[in-house]
Amino acid sequence: MSSSTPLAAIILAAGQGTRMQSSLPKVLHPVAGRSMLGHVLALSQALNADRRVVVVAPDMPMVTEAARSQAPDVRIAVQTRQLGTADAVKAAAADLTGFAGDVLILYADTPLVQANTLQAMLTARRKGASVMVLGFRPADPSPYGRLMLDDTGALEAIVESRDCNPEQRAVTLCNSGVMAVDGAVLFSLLQEVGNTNSRGEYYLTDIIAIARKRGLACAVIEADADEVLGVNSRIELSQAEAILQNRLRRIAMLNGATLLDPSTVYFSHDTQLGRDVVVGQNVVFGPGVRVADGVQIKPFSHLEGASVAAAAEIGPYGRLRPGADIGRNAKIGNFVEVKAARIEEGAKISHLSYIGDARVGAGANVGAGTITCNYDGFEKHFTDIGAGAFIGSNTCLVAPVKIGDGAYTGSGSVITRDVSSDALALVRPQQIEKTGWAARFRARFSGKKSGHG
Ligand code: UD1
Ligand code: MG
Repeated sequence: MSSSTPLAAIILAAGQGTRMQSSLPKVLHPVAGRSMLGHVLALSQALNADRRVVVVAPDMPMVTEAARSQAPDVRIAVQTRQLGTADAVKAAAADLTGFAGDVLILYADTPLVQANTLQAMLTARRKGASVMVLGFRPADPSPYGRLMLDDTGALEAIVESRDCNPEQRAVTLCNSGVMAVDGAVLFSLLQEVGNTNSRGEYYLTDIIAIARKRGLACAVIEADADEVLGVNSRIELSQAEAILQNRLRRIAMLNGATLLDPSTVYFSHDTQLGRDVVVGQNVVFGPGVRVADGVQIKPFSHLEGASVAAAAEIGPYGRLRPGADIGRNAKIGNFVEVKAARIEEGAKISHLSYIGDARVGAGANVGAGTITCNYDGFEKHFTDIGAGAFIGSNTCLVAPVKIGDGAYTGSGSVITRDVSSDALALVRPQQIEKTGWAARFRARFSGKKSGHG
C-alpha cells in the first residue's frame, strides 16, 4: 500500500491524572514549554493525519479548548465514564464513520514518541499486520501490560500486569499503549471486548487476542523506553522534561550550535538556533525564540518570545522578553531587560537597563541604568530612540517620547519631552559648589567621636 493510505489519530486524554495533585488537567502540563497534549497533537500533525480525535472526559473544558486552539481541525469525543482504554477508543467511533485507513492510538500523557517511530509502525503494519503495537523494555516492567509472542515472534496477546500468571509476569517486553490498527477492523474488534478482568475495565489490549482468534496478524515494534515514558506524576513529568531537554540539546549541536555546557542549557520545544551560535552556561530559552547565525549568548541569559539577528551578542545575564527583536551586531549586555522593542543594527545597550515598548535606532548607544518609563499604571507608551543617538547613563525616558537621530541626553536626565536630532537634552539641577565646606565640617567635629561608621 502507498503512503497515501488515509491516517486517523485517536488521542486518549480522558484519564483524570489524580497523581499529579494538580488543578490543571494532567495532559496540559508542559514539557519543554508545550503541553503534553500539544506534543502529541504536533506528532499527529507531523504524520499528516487526515483525521484527529481527542477523547476527553465530560468535565474537561480546558483540554477541549487547548486542543481546538492548537488544532482547529481536531474532533473532540467525550467518553462519558472512564470504563477503560477500549471504551475510550470506542468513544471516537462516531468521529471516524466513513473513515477507511490506518488508525493510530496515542496517549496524551506519553509526549515523547517520535514521528519516525510511528512511521515505521505504519509501514510495518501495511505489510500485513492488522494491529501493530509499540513495545518497550522498561527497567521495571511491573506496572505494564506484557506482550506475549508466539514461536515465530508474532504477537499473540497482551496481558495486563494484574492479570498475569507468574510465567507471564516474567516477560520483560511491555506495551507502551501506542498502537496502529487497520481501521477496517478496529471497531468490530472493540465490539468483542468484555470487562471480565481484575479491574472490571474494557481493555484495549484485549483486541490482540480477539484479532488472533479471527486469524488476523498482530506484531510488535520496539521503542526505546525513554521514548514511550508515560507521565502520571510530577516525578515522571520531570523525567520527561530531562529526556526532551537532552534531545533538544543534541539537535542544537548537530545543527551547528556550540553549547559550552549542554546540561545547563534549557530549550523550548520550538527554539531555533542558527549555525555557529555559541551558548554559554546556564542559559534558558522560553517559547518562541529565534536566533540567527553567529550569535553569542553568554552565561545566565534568559530569552523568551525573542528574535536575535546574526552576530549579535546577548549577556551575560541578558533578559529578552516577548517582542524583543535584536538586530545584527547589536549588543545587549549584563542585567539588560528588553521587552517589545526593536534594537536596530549595531545598537548597544551594555549595562543595567530596561528597554520596553521602544525602538533603539541603528548604532545608538544606551548608557548604563537607562530606563524607558513605559507604563503609567493604565497604558503602555512608546519610546523612539533615533539612529546614532547617545543616551547618557541613568536617563529616564518618560514615554511617549522621541529622541531624534544623533541626539544626546545628559546623564541622570528625566526626559519628558521630545528631543530633536543632534541636540543635547539635559534635565538636571545645576551643580553648586561651596568652597572649603568639607574641611570646615570636619574641623567642627574633630576631637568628637566619629559617627557609627
Ligand atoms: C495501559 C495499558 C497497558 C500499558 C500501559 C502503558 C490497557 C488496558 N493497558 O495501562 O497495557 O502497558 O497503558 O502505560 O490499555 N484513558 C481514557 N479513558 C479510560 C481509561 C484510560 O481516556 O477510560 C486514557 C488515559 O488518560 C491514558 C491512557 O488512556 O492516557 C491509558 O490509561 P491508563 O489508565 O493509564 O492505562 P494503564 O493502566 O496504565
Ligand atoms: Mg497509565
